Formats: sequence, structure tokens, C-alpha cells
Amino acid sequence: MRIRHVVAVTGALMGLSALALPASGAQAVAYGQHPPVVVGHRGAAAYAPENTLASVDTADRLGISWVENDVQRTKDGELVVLHDTSLARTTNAKKLFPGRSPWNVGDFTLREIEKLDAGSWFSSKFKGERVPTLEEYLEEVEDNGQKLLMELKNPELYPGIERQAIRELRRDGWLDSGHLRRRLIVQSFNADAIKRFHRLDPAVKTGFLGSPTVADLPKYAAYCDQINAPHTAVTRKYVKAVHGLRGPHHRRLEVYTWTVDDAKGAVGIAGMGVDGIISNKPDVVRDALDGDGS
Ligand code: G3P
Ligand code: CA
Repeated sequence: MRIRHVVAVTGALMGLSALALPASGAQAVAYGQHPPVVVGHRGAAAYAPENTLASVDTADRLGISWVENDVQRTKDGELVVLHDTSLARTTNAKKLFPGRSPWNVGDFTLREIEKLDAGSWFSSKFKGERVPTLEEYLEEVEDNGQKLLMELKNPELYPGIERQAIRELRRDGWLDSGHLRRRLIVQSFNADAIKRFHRLDPAVKTGFLGSPTVADLPKYAAYCDQINAPHTAVTRKYVKAVHGLRGPHHRRLEVYTWTVDDAKGAVGIAGMGVDGIISNKPDVVRDALDGDGS
């Protein structure tokens, strides 16, 4: 964790310790083979500005090893981490570049994006946080010993982003056998992008964001290891249907679901057999699955 984040992160965590501490004598909730993996959505988006390094570090401080992010491309071809197509909601782009509506990521150079404050909109404690490049983000996750569920966000806007992302992941050491086996999953709402990504590097574990019909699932199983469905679409029957298939790596197809932020919801959906839960409050979900968050 970078030293300059410690103050902000510590501040963000004040008042959360009661949520993070396990209750004594709590009973673990019973699941199939393992409790679901807990993934911090956009880092730990309830407690720090989403998709920033501070958000990754906050998840780390909470003891959350998996984080999720969103990858897009600047005008001059650099990969950066941001959720919305526009910079307007989560940075001060409107103020700094008033004539550049709609402030789309793809219309700004990296040099311009580096000038933006991506923290103040969330809290003054995070003033000065930046929109990270994918390279910076990967380094932070690596330094923290965390794992990454990486989303290609709106890849249709950025032709060739699949190949570029693979190049970046390789350059930053994320395609060695250890990362491939345990620390990296690449997902998208865009099935064609995931198909292309899988063709370009079949070794990477992949996920499709959505809830295809049960009849269509075998098509996805040809190139996806996971079907990552909104929690509203998940039923025990659906999870069973997904689990009944094998993915491209000959393992049982998995379901990670999003976005679940409360203890009751987490316990309920875990009971349906999902393999992962993506949450803005990953500590709440983790503690609920340990039996002390409900
Ligand atoms: O990882 C699941 C989730 O991130 C998908 O929705 O809009 O938050 O990227 P969104
Ligand atoms: Ca996402």
C-alpha cells in the first residue's frame, strides 16, 4: 500500500471496525464445498472512490483479496481504470475542461486525465486521487498481494482492446502460471470481446457478465469459465444449470454474482450455491458468510 494512501484509507475505515470484527461464537453458514469468493466491487466502492488505488488499498486493509475494476482506453491509446464512459461523475473533468462535453474517456489524452481529481467527488479525504492507468493499478494490486477480476468496459468503443489488455497484462507479469491459476479473471458484458480475448490467450480465466438462458449456456461454456449474473437473476436452479457445464479449462462453470452489499442478501445468495459475490461492502459480505454479519 502506498504511504500517501494510509491516512485517507485509515480515515475511511474509522467506524467500520465493528463490521470487520468477527463476532465470537458465530456459526459459519453452511455452503456446498466452499463459501463464495468475495470480490470488492471497483475496489471497495462504498468506502473509497471507485476504481482508484485508494479503493484497492481500502479493500486490502479490510482483508479483501479479490478486487474488481473497469478498463477503458484514452484518446492516445493508454489503458486506464474507470467505470463510466464519461469522466464527469467521478472526476472534476467538467470544471477543468468546461468545453469538452460529454467528457468521454476516449476523447481525452492520458496527460489530460492525469490532471483530474478522482477522489474529491467521493470525499475531501480522498482529494488528489487520480484515475489510474491499468499499469499503475496492476502494480498496486500486485504489491498488495491481491487478485483481480478485470472488466473490459464497453470494449465496442475501443477496437483491439482485448489484444492490448493482454499485452499490458503480460508486460506487468500477470500472465505467468501463478497469476493465471489463482489471481486473474477477465470479464465483460460484451460476449464477442470475451470470445476474442479467449481466442487470443486461451490460458486466461474468463467470465461473461449477464444471465444467458439455460438453453444458451453451452455456447458460452466454449469460451467462458464463469457466468457472472446480476443477483436478481440468480436462482438455485440457474446456478445448478451453470454448474452442470464445463468451461474451456474443463472445470465446472462458475457463477459470480453482483452487486450484493447486505448481510442477509449475501447469506441468501450464497445458499443458492454461487461461487463468488461481488460487493461494494465486501467486508460486510465476508463477515456475513463467516456467520457474524446478519
Ligand atoms: O463485476 C460486476 C459489475 O461490475 C458489473 O456492473 O456496471 O458495475 O461494471 P458494473
Ligand atoms: Ca465493473
